[in-house]
Amino acid sequence: MTQAFFDHPYLSGHHQPVRFEASAPDLIVEGELQRDLAGVFFRNGPEPLYPTREGDYHWFDGDGMVYALHFEDGRVSLCNRWVRTEKFELERAAGKRLFGMFGNPLTADPSVQGKTYNTANTNLILHGGKLMALMEGAKPVVLDPRDLSTLGEHDYDGKITSTFSAHPKVDYATGELINIGAMINGYMGAPELRYDIITADGAVRHSAVIPVPHNALIHTFFLTENWVVFPIIPIDTDLQRFMSGGPMTAWNTGRPTKIGLMPREGGADDVRWFEFEPRHMFHELNVWEQDGKILADVAAANGTALFTDQHGERLTHGDTQQSLRRWTIDIAAGSMTEEVLNDRDIQFPRPDDRLITRKSRHSFANINLNSRDGRIEGMDAVLRFDTETGAEDIFHFGAGAAAGELVFAPRLGSTEEADGYAMTLVHRANAPTSELAIFAAKDIAAGPLATVQIPFRVPSGFHCNFYAADNPLYRQAVTPLRAAA
Ligand SMILES: [Fe+2]
Repeated sequence: MTQAFFDHPYLSGHHQPVRFEASAPDLIVEGELQRDLAGVFFRNGPEPLYPTREGDYHWFDGDGMVYALHFEDGRVSLCNRWVRTEKFELERAAGKRLFGMFGNPLTADPSVQGKTYNTANTNLILHGGKLMALMEGAKPVVLDPRDLSTLGEHDYDGKITSTFSAHPKVDYATGELINIGAMINGYMGAPELRYDIITADGAVRHSAVIPVPHNALIHTFFLTENWVVFPIIPIDTDLQRFMSGGPMTAWNTGRPTKIGLMPREGGADDVRWFEFEPRHMFHELNVWEQDGKILADVAAANGTALFTDQHGERLTHGDTQQSLRRWTIDIAAGSMTEEVLNDRDIQFPRPDDRLITRKSRHSFANINLNSRDGRIEGMDAVLRFDTETGAEDIFHFGAGAAAGELVFAPRLGSTEEADGYAMTLVHRANAPTSELAIFAAKDIAAGPLATVQIPFRVPSGFHCNFYAADNPLYRQAVTPLRAAA
């Protein structure tokens, strides 16, 4: 018999697990669903199958549950499935949690010692003809794009056998997927990352192992037309510290941000490192080259709200609230400056993905208009922000709402930046259901053009992506419904 989950802020309210899978062939849509909106919206996030062994919980630790909403022929379908990782299957067979939190071997059941902790819970992308569920500590897991059934871990013909990024970058100019593997020797092993260039058809054409200053979470990295940047922020995982009674994963107060700069086609000998003040930075809006500099627009804060410091103390809200900042990296000098572009409490900034690695101006993001210390209720609004003019375009879902990542969805046939729609998965305060709100991308303030009704509450999650039906990544991976039927 499965026991109830214990009380925890990230297991209640918007975060309360639903623990079930559904298939809904034709959802009710309020408003007008435009015919030039076709493709698929994906979301990944944590949906813990069982309570942890430690009696504690962390939002990042839940088993990956993926959602797909297919838009075609003027209809929207929904499917959600857990990713059948080895972890999921072993624990489901046992009827209880076997792995330690974050894969901690010291708290795991002996039966899973040496097994891979892969929750596949962070992101869900199309590339090389495959749909892949990603987390930064393990290999990608390939899923069927229609029914989301799990097809297995993917190692690129044995070429990528350690970790894979949750935020690899697709360069639409080349079709390539640029990837890193962080902590490839484990968090107590030699500090190295692996850098990969994967062709549009899914073959690894370049890999390099790169020494890094120390093991740390490297949740994202920057890519431009000619450069790659590895930001090493002061969050690390340390089993020695855990054995001494401290936190396993922590913000290491006093440690600078270390930034590695490398030509995109380079390797270990080409990396130059420099330091900046301590910063929390998990997500960039977009990054490009301009006048001998790299401009990186990022969601950053002076500290992290995700983990305590190495002594178990939480940082203040003021030090951990993220804002949209521009990091300007001088390539020749190996130095960086920072300016705040927008000081709203921001979670996930996203561009028109087609411009990743090239100059862009429109930022789509979920934000909180009622930011306060200790909030865990989520982001109650969405924003389009023009980084050239500073103009804001905001829609508020009401007090206590939780809006997920706002992603841009190109209109079929469009080529201009931000020509299309923007959509976010929302749970309004205390509602029994969720909704996918669809806006005209350049008029967020007007409110949703259409709202897809989801007949149950979708717990707050992580990353979303929309692939239009005329996107090469979609055409390569997704069989049209009528052909599949
Ligand atoms: Fe992320």
